[in-house]
Amino acid sequence: MTDTAPLVPDASALNADALPRITLPRITLETVTASADVTAMIEVADEYLGAIGYTEHGFRHANLVAHISGNIIRRLGYDDRMAEMAEIAGYLHDTGNCIGRDHHGVSSALLARDMLRALGMDPWETAHIMNAVGNHEEESGAPANPIGAATIIADKSDVHHTRVRNPDPATFDIHDRVNHAARRSFLRVDGQARTLTLEIDIDTEISQVMEYFEIFLSRMQMCRAAAEVLDSTFHLIINGTKLL
Ligand SMILES: [Fe+2]
Ligand SMILES: [Fe+2]
Repeated sequence: MTDTAPLVPDASALNADALPRITLPRITLETVTASADVTAMIEVADEYLGAIGYTEHGFRHANLVAHISGNIIRRLGYDDRMAEMAEIAGYLHDTGNCIGRDHHGVSSALLARDMLRALGMDPWETAHIMNAVGNHEEESGAPANPIGAATIIADKSDVHHTRVRNPDPATFDIHDRVNHAARRSFLRVDGQARTLTLEIDIDTEISQVMEYFEIFLSRMQMCRAAAEVLDSTFHLIINGTKLL
C-alpha cells in the first residue's frame, strides 16, 4: 500500500463528455465564394490575364469548374463531402494568376492554404485541396486523387467562344480561334458506364478540328490520366465524331 497518487490516471475514470472538444467548421463552396479575399484574387487574376492576352478566367470560369468538379465526383458515386471539396478546389484553382501566370497551380495552392486555414478548415481537407489545385496544369501537374482528377477534367472542359476577349478576329491566335470556334461544349458523365465524355461543337469555318487537337492534345492526355484515377474512361467527341 502507498499513499502516492498513480502517475498515470485510470483511463476509465475519464469522462469523455467533460473534455473540451474542437469542432472544425464545415467549409463549403458557399463559404469560399463569400470570402472577400477570394473575390479580390479572382478579379485581379482575370484582369491580369486579360491584360496579357489570355481568355476569360473570372467568376464564370471559377464557378463552372467548381460545379463540374462536384458533379463528376457525385455522379461517379463518391461521398458528398468529397464533392464539396472538389467544388472548392475547382473554384480556387486559378487564383494564383493574381500573382503571375507561371507556376500558378502552385501559387493557387498556397493561397488556398492560407485562406482555408484562416476560415478554420480541417488541415487534412485543406491539404487535399492544395494537392488538387497544385496539379491542375498539364505542364507540371499530375492527377493523383479523385478531387484533383475531377478538377483537371472540369478545367479542361471549359472551351467556349464566350471566353475570347480579343475583339479583333484578324489578330486571333490559335487559342482565340479554337475557343471562338467552340459553339457548344458539354461534359457528359455516365456514372453507370463510368465514362466522361467531352462533347464539343466546332464551327469549322473558323477553326479546323486539327487545330483544336494541336493545342488540346496535352490537355486531353491529362484528362485521360485523370479519368483513370476516377476509375473511368475519358472520351472526346467533336462535331459528332468520336476522336478518343
Ligand atoms: Fe490554370
Ligand atoms: Fe482554369
